[in-house]
Amino acid sequence: MAIQKVMVIGAGQMGAGIAQVCAQAGFDVLLHDMNTEALEKGLKNIEKLLTRAVVKERITDKDKTDTLNRLKPSNHLKDAQSCDLVIEAVVENMDVKAKVFGDLDVFAPKHAILATNTSSLPITEIAAVTNRPDQVIGMHFMNPVPVMKLVEIIRGLQTSDETYQAIEEMTAKLNKTSVEVADLPGFAANRILMPMINEAIFAVHEGVASVEDVDKVMKLGMNHPMGPLTLADFIGLDTCLYIMEVLYEGFNDSKYRPCPLLRQYVKAGWLGKKSGRGFYQYN
Ligand code: CAA
Ligand code: NAD
Repeated sequence: MAIQKVMVIGAGQMGAGIAQVCAQAGFDVLLHDMNTEALEKGLKNIEKLLTRAVVKERITDKDKTDTLNRLKPSNHLKDAQSCDLVIEAVVENMDVKAKVFGDLDVFAPKHAILATNTSSLPITEIAAVTNRPDQVIGMHFMNPVPVMKLVEIIRGLQTSDETYQAIEEMTAKLNKTSVEVADLPGFAANRILMPMINEAIFAVHEGVASVEDVDKVMKLGMNHPMGPLTLADFIGLDTCLYIMEVLYEGFNDSKYRPCPLLRQYVKAGWLGKKSGRGFYQYN
């Protein structure tokens, strides 16, 4: 089965990026969000990034127009009925994702693959709410999607070889490199990255160094492109906390205990760049 039409659910920073790279690679794309403002913002952001790519002479004006023509907004999950692949990128919460997958199982055609961009949640559990667990798979993009080359592909217990192969081929068409990762909490990327970010937050919490200096240590001392606290703000502190909770509960190991300061910031609504305040203040 050839994938031609893709639906992306969630037009936040990840969903918009995924929709952009799919449209740029020649796929017809529907972008859906339950929040109309978020959908408009996601589409505007894609247009802005494409305009910047034209200015930088990475793509032509025609490429931009063709990409935007392939990309359409969607106001209802029912639109999945015309798609071969659905990629879900809503909030990192099992109940929300389970509801979306239950609905998609009803609306999407029988042949369609249902992929999730979850950062850490079990693919097997998400697949179990559908009647097609063999066609459910993890397709974990990195942020910012148009820039980062990696996609983790995660099989659930029942994911078929055909589904894996289709997603591996799709990833290559998006000009990304894939790695196969087991369905364990946090997969590989976040099992390694998030404890570092959490430890950086502990360092601030315990007065080891200031926010700016912790970031300087990792930027100038380890050549990371962003300090861990800048990166946490960039990812979203809510997402970081959800991932730490999945690791903590999933492994039942105190080494993954989320830092209380992270919990406090999320409770205060300081979600990082997207909310205007996190470890740093924006605009
Ligand atoms: N969306 C799209 N493109 C973006 C972008 C964004 N949010 N931010 C930057 N870019 C693009 C810029 O447009 C620029 O492209 P051009 O050269 O065409 O102009 C390019 O990236 C470089 O940007 P800048 O020169 O402005 O800044 P930079 O050199 O500091 O690079 C960065 C920005 C690529 C984000 C870099 O800081 C970086 O690699 N940071 C670390 C990112 C990272 O670790 N991501 C993984 C997060 S973990 C994850 O995703 C998994 C999870 O489940 C949480
Ligand atoms: P975000 O908060 O920027 O966007 C989430 C979007 O989903 C919002 O626009 C929201 O309105 C929409 N949404 C929520 N519930 C919905 C529903 N039931 N139906 C339709 N739309 C719904 O979040 P994000 O950072 O884009 O993360 C999305 C997913 O991608 C999460 O699972 C996250 O763990 C994963 N992820 C995030 C990053 C990152 O760096 N932020 C990286 C890789 C993967």
